[in-house]
Amino acid sequence: MSAAGAAPGVSASAAGAAPDVPAGAARAVPAGAAGERLVVVDDVVQRYRLPRERLFGPAPELTAVDGVSLQVMAGRSLGVVGESGSGKSTLARLVMALERPTRGSVRFLGRDLNALPAEELRRARRDFQMVFQDPYGSLDPRQTVARIVVEPLTAIGRVDAGDARERAAHALASVGLRAADLDKYPHEFSGGQRQRIAIARALVTRPKLIVADEPVSALDVSVQAQVLNLLQDLQDEFGVTYLLISHDLAVVDHVCDEVAVMYRGKFVEQGTPQTLFRAAAHPYTRALLDAVPRARPQTRAGARRRSAPAPRHDFAVDPSRGCAFAARCPHAVARCVDQAPELRAIAPGHEVSCHLAFGGGA
Ligand SMILES: Nc1ncnc2c1ncn2[C@@H]1O[C@H](COP(=O)(O)OP(=O)(O)OP(=O)(O)O)[C@@H](O)[C@H]1O
Ligand code: SF4
Ligand SMILES: [Mg+2]
Repeated sequence: MSAAGAAPGVSASAAGAAPDVPAGAARAVPAGAAGERLVVVDDVVQRYRLPRERLFGPAPELTAVDGVSLQVMAGRSLGVVGESGSGKSTLARLVMALERPTRGSVRFLGRDLNALPAEELRRARRDFQMVFQDPYGSLDPRQTVARIVVEPLTAIGRVDAGDARERAAHALASVGLRAADLDKYPHEFSGGQRQRIAIARALVTRPKLIVADEPVSALDVSVQAQVLNLLQDLQDEFGVTYLLISHDLAVVDHVCDEVAVMYRGKFVEQGTPQTLFRAAAHPYTRALLDAVPRARPQTRAGARRRSAPAPRHDFAVDPSRGCAFAARCPHAVARCVDQAPELRAIAPGHEVSCHLAFGGGA
């Protein structure tokens, strides 16, 4: 992953492999060549029109994603972190081509998803699947596990019933559940098991990419680690590529090769998890790190304090100009109010949008 124009931050590792979800010992099937750019997002903007405040007044707009560019190479993992409302789920929906961006493009294996005819897009969907946050809400309680897991297969085209059941059983096996679970209903499972079912459903089409939006945030802490370990194991086994969305840096640290920090629709910092934990340079990233309960405390500057310091400046901030973080930033100077910082490299593979950030942090 990297900002467009910068050297790719996530270089491909071993060739990716699609989850073939075979019964028993799964065998990796090549899914993408080493170095293959699986996803390229170029300068996407997503604006939403909000309800009018006055009968004849203009409809206000909200910019949920504001000029984001990224790349994810086959077999690698990009984490996107940020607080609630920063635009993470909107970005996920754009990558999944569930929404058409106001501006910019989303390419999957070189094809502009939003330029594909509907039928081709439907077929292309087998290569990218999504896991949602809520394992209770995302599984239809009236459907058996078998029907839930095969649903993406039926959505992309006709599939033989016997073959679909076998594929569903294989997918369940790959997430540690049994073929006997196929005829049960979601309420018969724990939260962690339900999220395993959701992951099996994502795997059943043998996708190259899984977009996971807060996949563990609804789970108990003890179960979170199991599900994150499962995601990692599936990547090791099948080479699946992840775009993992979380509000929690510790979660993406567990799974991802690279992390982008999102604030108000923009990427404000990106680098490897090690870089961000050791040398976060954007004040917002540091504030997020302060919220991570004792993850890597020996390397985390923020471990010493429990909350970010309050802003010290007293100048007025216009959120439509300058740095979007200025109103909350303890380091803001007059320039921050007038001039929006660009995302720029301060070290190889480490990009920050802050006027005061230079190699080693702000
Ligand atoms: N369909 C929509 N119409 C109008 N506004 C929307 C729509 N979808 C999202 N938004 C707004 O866009 C902004 C970003 O929302 P988004 O759901 O992408 O944030 P998020 O980072 O995923 O937050 P959370 O961590 O709470 O899930 C929010 O202000 C949200 O209210
Ligand atoms: S540009 Fe200024 S306001 Fe924005 S994060 Fe950096 S120091 Fe803070
Ligand atoms: Mg969200």
